[in-house]
Amino acid sequence: MGSTAYYGPIIHTFGPSELEIIPSGLIVIDTEGQIMSLTRQVEPHSVNLVLTSLDLSPDLVDVRRLAPGQMLIPGFVDTHNHAPQWAQRGLGQGMHILDWLDQITFPNEARFSDPAYARRVYASCVDGFLRQGITMASYYGSVHGEATKILADLCLEKGQRAFVGKCNMSRNSPPYYRDATVEESLQVTEDCIAHIRRIDPHGRLLKHVLTPRFAISCDPEVLTGLGKIAKRNPDLPIQTHFNEAEQEMTATMGLFPQFTNEADLYEHYGLLGRRSILAHCCHMTDYEMGRLRELDSGVAHCPISNMTVGGGFMAAPIRDFLRRGIKVGLGTDSGGGFSSSILDAMRQAMIASHAREVASKGEDKGLTIPEAFYLATLGGAEVCCLADKIGNFVTGKAFDALVIGTQGADSGIMTMVEDDDDLLTVFEKFIMTGDDRNITRVYVQGRLVKGAM
Ligand code: GUN
Ligand code: FE
Repeated sequence: MGSTAYYGPIIHTFGPSELEIIPSGLIVIDTEGQIMSLTRQVEPHSVNLVLTSLDLSPDLVDVRRLAPGQMLIPGFVDTHNHAPQWAQRGLGQGMHILDWLDQITFPNEARFSDPAYARRVYASCVDGFLRQGITMASYYGSVHGEATKILADLCLEKGQRAFVGKCNMSRNSPPYYRDATVEESLQVTEDCIAHIRRIDPHGRLLKHVLTPRFAISCDPEVLTGLGKIAKRNPDLPIQTHFNEAEQEMTATMGLFPQFTNEADLYEHYGLLGRRSILAHCCHMTDYEMGRLRELDSGVAHCPISNMTVGGGFMAAPIRDFLRRGIKVGLGTDSGGGFSSSILDAMRQAMIASHAREVASKGEDKGLTIPEAFYLATLGGAEVCCLADKIGNFVTGKAFDALVIGTQGADSGIMTMVEDDDDLLTVFEKFIMTGDDRNITRVYVQGRLVKGAM
């Protein structure tokens, strides 16, 4: 058998308000999991004809027709989450960021010094994200090299596309949970980079992501060292927490009095650029937004944790970012975010944006469903500099996709589908009320990673 084809309703997006609804489309995938073609308006009886016109022998193509009520959408991209917080999701709601880190998070993340514990929790974490349709995740690991390598191994084994980052933190956390020295912080990072290059030499699914937790956690020498590693490894993404909450920003400026804002700080250390994934960005001046745009840095918008943990209790100005052409994707930020579902993050992004619409006296309009869907797919891919590879069903990209089931055994508790609902209505019902029960099958690079054929 050669290639595979999927036939049925398809929805994807080309931009914040460029949703494309294809009631009957045919996607052909090659043996490497790349999209060979997307054909629109294909009648059920003309599938073979279309394959022939693509110079394919229909006998050699495994054609899979979606069942009634099913549709195909691109996999979700989670631009920001913490794998070692998988078992603490939902704890410490309402706390301010530095107190939440000290009291809830650091004692919990310290447990990942035990490789057996790491393997158990990370296996559940990767399975849990895949089950919810997150085909690409940018993970913060813990401070530990061994556990971080285990996380990378598990992503590869289970077939999830991922950035995996050893978390750099050399100060301002308890002695039992920090890098012992600057040298160790950087050496363990180099070890993790080498490990990921060894297990996935062509970076088919995995990359190490440089992960200074935030400037408060890092001695200036660690930031300098990471900037040098970033320069030597231009393919590696970079992630950090950025302008999350006033408590955090005040502490940061106290530690780095030579700067007046975080954009200048991270840029000084060579950590702000096209590859940077900046979580939160809740409190942004005009100047900092301008720098993000000029440097083409991306925002990981985490509307759930913004409103429940951290102390900002205010979500980022997404409409303003989009207007300025700043790259934006969605992050679950689980466990600060109580939910690891991107569907929940989409809904919360809309809720938070409506609050901002009121606060801006109508100037910053709330997000629509197509916009939230864009943030969860192509927008996230852009933030991760992966838009040439994933995010929608353009020819040449990888087939990272979800089969959404909305009827019968797949229906879960989403809003009941009526006989006369059109495809857009069913899609809206799924986005607003669906959950993992509606995510029937998940593919990454053409490989089935959740569900049965
Ligand atoms: N800032 C530094 N570390 C963290 C974290 O784990 N979660 C959140 N939300 N903010 C942080
Ligand atoms: Fe976070």
